Amino acid sequence: MADQEFLDRVFTMEVGRCTEAAAVAASRMIGRGDKEGADQEAVNALRDAFNKLEMRGVVVIGEGERDEAPMLYIGEEVGTGRGPKIDIALDPLEGTTLTAKAMANALSVVAMAQGGTLLHAPDVYMQKIAVGPGYPNGVVDLDASVEDNIASLAKAKGAPASEITLCVLDRERHDGIIAGARKMGARVFLIPDGDVAGVFHTAEAHTGIDMYVGSGGAPEGVLAAAALRCVGGQMQGRLLFRNDDERLRAERAGITDLNRKYGLMDLASGDVIFAATGVTNGSMLEGVRWEKDFVHTHTVIMRSKTGTVRYIKARTPRDGRQ
Ligand code: FBP
Repeated sequence: MADQEFLDRVFTMEVGRCTEAAAVAASRMIGRGDKEGADQEAVNALRDAFNKLEMRGVVVIGEGERDEAPMLYIGEEVGTGRGPKIDIALDPLEGTTLTAKAMANALSVVAMAQGGTLLHAPDVYMQKIAVGPGYPNGVVDLDASVEDNIASLAKAKGAPASEITLCVLDRERHDGIIAGARKMGARVFLIPDGDVAGVFHTAEAHTGIDMYVGSGGAPEGVLAAAALRCVGGQMQGRLLFRNDDERLRAERAGITDLNRKYGLMDLASGDVIFAATGVTNGSMLEGVRWEKDFVHTHTVIMRSKTGTVRYIKARTPRDGRQ
């Protein structure tokens, strides 16, 4: 069977099983004030789940570089070593602080695509802008001011700027964006963490969010792009470097133009499968819920090839199989 066909038929559901396992493991640590411990639980479970899959998987977006992450480091090979070659981008726990503090919107997230099709982004920051589907190409631009982007999006939406809502990470570095947006009369939906969901919300009409803007993790940028590839929308990103070490990381990852503006297809170009499972309750997914005999999970699995979006609610017995 051709690599691509195999990926399509088998992996779609399997990816969701992997994020379920990571989310269940992380959920044991909700509210315990230990973000590293919560992340570690998710990492262990995700790695075990990957290693059951018939694939020659390579982690391209992972927990860090080989010398700093014992597991799921960038370049680590996972899976049985048989089957298709697959690029894996992962964030076993997107929202470590959210989990430690029992706050909303922590997720376990994985994207898979054919080898060589996900940007090998180093663990640095990325400047990002995204809008949902249905707008003319280039309606917003990373290099335009927030005011110009709001004006352009409002025109395309056929609505006044006061009916535009931006999602922004609540950080001091975004004060200028927030002030500019409010000066235009737009709404700003501030999130404490979790910009994969923030970007994805632009494609979910019920959230009311029209645009995501600001800087966050570059790995999360690739994961968010993978999600948007499945549902439509536009995104641009540019890596941000704080020092030479970060520039070196990018060069080691094979990036030659450090100032490049990436479009959605540059971030995630292949036939992407994206899955996320809620850890804590959130605006995208319900969190893991433990009952006496069962553990309940809520997962979204999407494919860029078909545009299918599946929400799966699972109930699994607690009798030692978690
Ligand atoms: P963690 O799960 O690693 O804590 O990341 C959460 C997150 O909010 C991401 O969603 C976001 O991209 C990044 O952190 C923003 O980084 P910072 O907290 O340094 O502004």
